[in-house]
Amino acid sequence: MQAARFVFEEIVRVTRVSISLPLVAALALAAFAAAAQDDPVERGAYLLKAAGCVTCHTAKDGTPLAGGRPFKTPFGTFYSPNITPDNETGIGRWSDEQFYRALHDGVRPDGAHYFPVFPYPTYTRMTRADAVAIKAYLFSQPAVRQANRPHSLPPVVGWREMQSGWKFLYFSPAEFKADPALSAAVNRGAYLVTALAHCGECHTPRNAFGALDPTRALAGTTDGPGGERVPNITPDPETGIGQWSEGDIVQILKTGLKPDYDAVGGSMGEAVNNGLQHLTDDDLKAIAAYLKTVPAVKNAVKATPKK
Ligand code: HEC
Ligand code: HEC
Repeated sequence: MQAARFVFEEIVRVTRVSISLPLVAALALAAFAAAAQDDPVERGAYLLKAAGCVTCHTAKDGTPLAGGRPFKTPFGTFYSPNITPDNETGIGRWSDEQFYRALHDGVRPDGAHYFPVFPYPTYTRMTRADAVAIKAYLFSQPAVRQANRPHSLPPVVGWREMQSGWKFLYFSPAEFKADPALSAAVNRGAYLVTALAHCGECHTPRNAFGALDPTRALAGTTDGPGGERVPNITPDPETGIGQWSEGDIVQILKTGLKPDYDAVGGSMGEAVNNGLQHLTDDDLKAIAAYLKTVPAVKNAVKATPKK
């Protein structure tokens, strides 16, 4: 007993002496970093960048997040709503639950259905904690009074009620589940690609009803957002990015430069500028690692070949 006590006191003495100033500083920094990680507002700011919310919810030359950006689709023109915390024109009165239901179920607080131009079929995979952190960040931002612009749709499509049929056919709410057979990095990449960064919302071809085709995930389309050509980013060596290294993929997400040093443009340029470039190197590497594991699909919407 006595001996044990001596050893214990000796440990205390030695550790006290060896706690040097740089060590104290390092411990304080680590504690600070951990606190930042736990702060939902800060976490939400990061997640919002990964999820590209600002790009869609900001009009050209408009106030960030106040909405009004038009989306021309084969079904009509939609306008993104104001998601600042303004009580009258934004989402200031929404509860966490209402916000989560919008992202997870595609349902408005009054029970009406959203149109899938709001990519809830992808955000449904987001965890509740991440959705609530995004809301905490949004609610830390200035409230902007700006009324929503109504969508301009042909009468039949305009019926939100029709959306319940669409959902019945093409949507099932489900949070992302990590696959224990894959590495932590690949799972993280899968979460980023399929839940937050919504790569498939642009890179996956759609059927006649605007639903993503799960059998050709990420295989590219000539009919992307606003009729854009969006290349195949599956690992197919001839038509996809199978020849690209993981470093090439990280580079394009971080700098917007392809392996041939040509800059990406269009909505990909926006996705990089407004969000993807701000992700940590670990997250970008995780995205690259995951993209290497998805099924290769041959599709003529060819990626930039690597010379
Ligand atoms: C591709 C463009 C796009 C992206 C990306 C996007 N949104 Fe939206 N969002 C829309 C559109 C368009 C609507 C309107 C849908 C409707 O009226 O049915 C909408 C609706 C919403 C609504 C409902 C608001 C209301 O008043 O009912 C919320 C909340 C929302 N988005 C939050 C987000 C968040 C948070 C993100 C990022 C995680 C995000 N959106 C990303 C286009 C987008
Ligand atoms: C808002 C739509 C949109 C989103 C979201 C999006 N992309 Fe893209 N992406 C595009 C478009 C459009 C291009 C073609 C740009 C060009 O040709 O200049 C492109 C090009 C690329 C390229 C270059 C391919 C080539 O052949 O040059 C890669 C790689 C890529 N995207 C990966 C991703 C990944 C990974 C994600 C998700 C983290 C993502 N994209 C999200 C629209 C999008």
